[in-house]
Amino acid sequence: MDYGRAFAKALQALRDEGRYRVFADIQRDRGRFPAARHHAVGGMRPITVWCSNDYLGMGQHPVVLAAMHEALDAAGAGSGGTRNISGTTHYHIDLEAELADLHGKEAALLFTSAYVANDTTLATLQKLLPGSIIFSDEKNHASMIAGIRNGGGPKVIWRNNDLADLEAKLSAVDPGRAKVIAFESVYSMDGRMAPIGAICDLAEKHGALTYLDEVHAVGLYGPHGGGLAERDRVMHRVDIINGTLAKGFGIMGGYIAAKADICDAIRSYAPGFIFTTSLAPAIAAGAVASIRHLKASDAERERHQERARLLKARLAAAGLPVMDNPSHIVPVLVGDPVLTKRITDALLDRFAIYVQPINYPTVPRGIERLRLTPTPQHSDADIDRLVAALSELWAELGLPLEGRRAEAAE
Ligand SMILES: Cc1ncc(COP(=O)(O)O)c(C=O)c1O
Repeated sequence: MDYGRAFAKALQALRDEGRYRVFADIQRDRGRFPAARHHAVGGMRPITVWCSNDYLGMGQHPVVLAAMHEALDAAGAGSGGTRNISGTTHYHIDLEAELADLHGKEAALLFTSAYVANDTTLATLQKLLPGSIIFSDEKNHASMIAGIRNGGGPKVIWRNNDLADLEAKLSAVDPGRAKVIAFESVYSMDGRMAPIGAICDLAEKHGALTYLDEVHAVGLYGPHGGGLAERDRVMHRVDIINGTLAKGFGIMGGYIAAKADICDAIRSYAPGFIFTTSLAPAIAAGAVASIRHLKASDAERERHQERARLLKARLAAAGLPVMDNPSHIVPVLVGDPVLTKRITDALLDRFAIYVQPINYPTVPRGIERLRLTPTPQHSDADIDRLVAALSELWAELGLPLEGRRAEAAE
């Protein structure tokens, strides 16, 4: 076997398709986000970040930083072990209590990321519920797909947000069988939102457990930042809520929140919980501060939504193909991986604007796009610069513009 050739061939296949990933080497400037610096050939240059999932800028909030500094000074850098072997600190206990309260659940369980939380929880659920079938929304994130595959049990894929399809598929299986409906609240690549209450109705009717990924909604929606289920007043109806401490809360880590027995069973059986070092105490302390702040303050959420509305309206007014959705995510359709990369390269090189191209397999082929993420910290001038740069590139590349829409949302 020519190992070198196998790897080179795999890489060449990505290059040929125009979807070889290049990571931008950037450094965020605390206190100045979305301003950052790009390590480019010839030195550091200032840039504006337009694709961060630190949606509210909590990763630089003074309350969060103070809590992290304090924990670092008090407890040191790492946790020292797995949760079972010396890695359960009071910071972890506090954070789990905070998360259980945020979601109105009896308990919560921490993981090192929401990816790990999805993967190990969904796989373990299938082991805990012998013979169970997972009903998975077709647009579910890679971490849920990995967990469902790792569980090894039967699965049924239903069309994104399609209640009739879900109902038909639930009706087709033995009513006595255990079922889990796994879905997301905000689908991160197109910004669509799930009809959570209606899915819970179907779950109740068919005796299914609900598993909801609120990764792109926690901190951002609901009066306390509990997510879309909180906003829609259906949080109590969802059996297991998955969330991240990155994105809206600005740090890192993941969790589930559910009834005490569910969390205890996952704690006791899930390899992705058991066999890995727990989060650093400073991360847990920062997350507690971030969650507490966003439970009490709506200011960040309101400004975030206002910025998203303004950006969408400005893009639409310029005729740029912004994909309509009710959320904070602003996708702009390009429809070709090579062109998408050319646009994002030009944005960075010529306009000092950082946007990462979104290509297959993150989205299906043919609907490659830019994914813009406005934050409360993006100014009107930042928005104007972005729209002007995109308009110039669209004209230069001869890309079609849509009928200019009135800036109705402003
Ligand atoms: C829907 C969804 N779930 C889970 C994750 C994983 O979250 P984390 O970054 O905390 O691992 C992501 C990450 O982007 C996501 O988009």
